[in-house]
Amino acid sequence: MSSEPILITGGAGYIGSHAVLAFEAAGYSVVVLDDLSTGRRQAVPGHLPFHEGDAGDGDLVRTIIGEYGISAVVHFAGAIVVPESVANPLKYYQNNTCVSRNLITACMEMGVKHFLFSSTAAVYGIPAQNPVGEDAPLAPINPYGTSKLMTEWILRDCAAAHDFRYGALRYFNVAGADPEGRAGQSTPNATHLIKVACQAALGHRDYLEVFGDDYHTPDGTCIRDYIHVSDLADAHVKTLEHLREKHENLVLNCGYGRGFSVREVISAVEACAGLSLDIRVAARRAGDAPQLVADNRQICARLGWRPNHDDIRVIVSTALDWERKLGASIA
Ligand code: UFG
Repeated sequence: MSSEPILITGGAGYIGSHAVLAFEAAGYSVVVLDDLSTGRRQAVPGHLPFHEGDAGDGDLVRTIIGEYGISAVVHFAGAIVVPESVANPLKYYQNNTCVSRNLITACMEMGVKHFLFSSTAAVYGIPAQNPVGEDAPLAPINPYGTSKLMTEWILRDCAAAHDFRYGALRYFNVAGADPEGRAGQSTPNATHLIKVACQAALGHRDYLEVFGDDYHTPDGTCIRDYIHVSDLADAHVKTLEHLREKHENLVLNCGYGRGFSVREVISAVEACAGLSLDIRVAARRAGDAPQLVADNRQICARLGWRPNHDDIRVIVSTALDWERKLGASIA
């Protein structure tokens, strides 16, 4: 247990709100900074200090770090939609690279020694091999992946130059919701497959599109490694503990090492909801890799991390429960 004060940016968002719960449960004193562009104020427990603002606002961040004596920053705030990054790259370089650079600068100036960064499997682009290991070539195929990779490199170089340690966690496909129903994905205008499929299952959307069924995969649809958001939140707690105890940087894949196709995911949602969805095959989506599955041996070995929810049915059923709770609004 630690009562260390930590700052969580994007703590009102989907993954961030689960991490807030996990760090609190581990005894940390959590302070949240979120601009509420996609996050929701209600997602942050009312007793926690909350600041509405931009993680790239150096003055604000320095003030918060000083006020609470923050010793570690966990940085979730960012933009996350791959096709949007293709259409609007500068938004991604701003939100994921420039904002991170400002935040890291403020951390340096204020003597923050530990930093966790939400990176992504998109840094690998289209890997030559799956499961893909952390040492695979870094070749993003969309601005989202590039914007995150640039921040990884900023962190690597700062850690080499200063007394500063970081963990970059490369998320594969994060899905599901807190099994106790305290948090879930509430992002407006969701685009992620499991969320969208759950909305269709509950009648909040008329149909579900499959973006491409002519990929070189067994059923022609893209394969992804879906990781339950609570297991991912737990990985963050373990990464910070590692930074504090071992003083070494970590770059780790976060996934289960097993892939499901778009069609398999849809079948899991149909089975869980007990109905058939109206499915329409559409064109391939820009920026999609055919297959992305994590080699997760590093995270298991270095952190002793073990998933608690490695079951697509659990991922889907918690996502469905959350969606029911949210009600009939697509927004
Ligand atoms: N898909 C559909 N229909 C939909 C939505 C998605 O067929 O309505 C397909 C996509 O084309 C893709 C798969 O479902 O093949 C997964 O798509 P998501 O939008 O759910 O997730 P992405 O794989 O695009 O992106 C996610 C994260 C990124 C991460 C990436 C790595 O958002 O942070 O996974 O796999 F980099």
